Amino acid sequence: METLGRVLVIVPTYNERDNLPVIVERLRAAVPAAHVLVADDNSPDGTGEVADGLAAGDGHVHVLHRPGKQGLGAAYIAGFRWGLDEGYDVLVEMDADGSHQPEELPKLLEALAEGADLAIGSRYVPGGKVVNWPHRRELLSKGANIYTRVMLGLPVRDATAGFRAYRSATLDKVGLAGVESQGYCFQVDLTLRTSRHGLRVVEVPITFVERTVGKSKMSGKVMSEALWRIGLWGVTGLPGRLRGRRGRG
Ligand code: GDD
Ligand code: MN
Repeated sequence: METLGRVLVIVPTYNERDNLPVIVERLRAAVPAAHVLVADDNSPDGTGEVADGLAAGDGHVHVLHRPGKQGLGAAYIAGFRWGLDEGYDVLVEMDADGSHQPEELPKLLEALAEGADLAIGSRYVPGGKVVNWPHRRELLSKGANIYTRVMLGLPVRDATAGFRAYRSATLDKVGLAGVESQGYCFQVDLTLRTSRHGLRVVEVPITFVERTVGKSKMSGKVMSEALWRIGLWGVTGLPGRLRGRRGRG
């Protein structure tokens, strides 16, 4: 098992003032060597100031203040750029609301150390679970993953998952310049790009626990962007997929 080097956990936030201190404390306890970057979109509830307070008391915590709500994907791209510039070797994505358990991060890092280029914390492989999701949200997530599989033929069970660890080299190879996804379809976008580059994507089972504090930012806009973009990638990628299949006989 190789050593991974410096790890940065990027936590995007929009109105998460009560969740942020809890998740940062859990993460610092679970993986003390990791650094944290809070990517806040100028949350009206003051999450940015809460983050500044945490950073002032802990040299492992950093804050990226963004001008306004520009979407989860845009926040992650800015966070990735920051992390690559600062020379981190591993870039992790994790929600602020406790749905992704920092105590499970070592499993993702282990998968990277064992050779994965991207480790996805997956709800839909054996051993993976979702706790406390309303039925309709579960249907939406499962439906989104089925739609993604049909459209893109990705060999991944949980392509929309938001708890993942990338080697920095993976993001360098894949490149961030062409990524236009703003909302949650960003997750599918990068899974597709990583897989198309022939890099190794490994799913690690996790337990996703629905938040108890604050509100989800899932919206009609987020869903419609995912629908049309994934559809477009499917249609424009189809000729290549058919050729690939024929080539394999
Ligand atoms: N900076 C920023 N800007 N952060 C955002 C934005 C945004 O526009 N939108 C959401 N976030 C942050 C939230 O504050 C939270 O920390 C995290 O992103 C996830 O947002 P939620 O709104 O809690 O997502 P969810 O629980 O509905 O969805 C989860 O599951 C999806 C797939 O099923 C997330 O893990 C998604 O990443 C995932 O795609
Ligand atoms: Mn959530």
